[in-house]
Amino acid sequence: MEVIIRDTREQAAALAAAVIAKALRDKPNLVLGLATGRTMETLYQLLVDKHRNEGLSFAAVRTFNLDEYIGLEARDPHSYRYYMNHHLFSRVDIDITNTHLPNGMAEDIASECAAYEYKIRSYGGIDLQLLGIGISGHIGFNEPLSAMLSRTRAKALTPQTQHQNAQFFGGPDGVPKRAITMGVGTILDSKRCLVLVTGAEKADVIAKAVEGPVTSMISATALQLHARCTVIVDSAAASRLENQEYYRWIFDNEPEWQDFD
Ligand code: GLP
Repeated sequence: MEVIIRDTREQAAALAAAVIAKALRDKPNLVLGLATGRTMETLYQLLVDKHRNEGLSFAAVRTFNLDEYIGLEARDPHSYRYYMNHHLFSRVDIDITNTHLPNGMAEDIASECAAYEYKIRSYGGIDLQLLGIGISGHIGFNEPLSAMLSRTRAKALTPQTQHQNAQFFGGPDGVPKRAITMGVGTILDSKRCLVLVTGAEKADVIAKAVEGPVTSMISATALQLHARCTVIVDSAAASRLENQEYYRWIFDNEPEWQDFD
């Protein structure tokens, strides 16, 4: 795992956008894993800007999102399908038939999850998986005690997560109680992970995720096992990390990052 610290939220998102843009230019038919949440809104806006101003093309990209709420129609403004269409897909040159999210309205959820896994594999796996981290330490909706080897499945949301996402649903009671999520094992199978975490409210959880012991109580700690995982944080989110000096040194000195400065 490598940790990159940028001073501001905007700089952190800009670096994540630059990493994705480079991956897209290197491989135009990238299989890109996508995430939702407030943090990603800034990032998607930057990708839209790159599409409009720099000609960054999504025409050949195939995408797989991490998760979707169970019981929400695609046209429901709270669904992640709606979020993705709104923040990214409708604003770039992507072929919408190449965009995949689990179907939270599926009659047979177990079959839907198995089919999602199969589809990811049939595309040769995910090249680059974008991730945020929830306050409960989840990646996707892999809540505490998610098995490290778990695959796409239905997961009950913790009260903490329901609370975190309550503002979108008019209070915690309105938040769906379950979601379909890629498993921790599904995420670990991707060839590269790119984690974007910003804001002081995430300082505690990111310190545990990056520097704490690996535990299924905090599914983000599983990323320590991934062979190629980059975590980009702003200084507010980095404030409780022990080795900040070392991480800053990496960004300033490692050749890979010099083109991004
Ligand atoms: C949701 C998503 C996660 C995301 C998290 C963080 O719970 N399922 O994939 O990482 O939100 O959201 P935010 O960026 O709003 O803090």
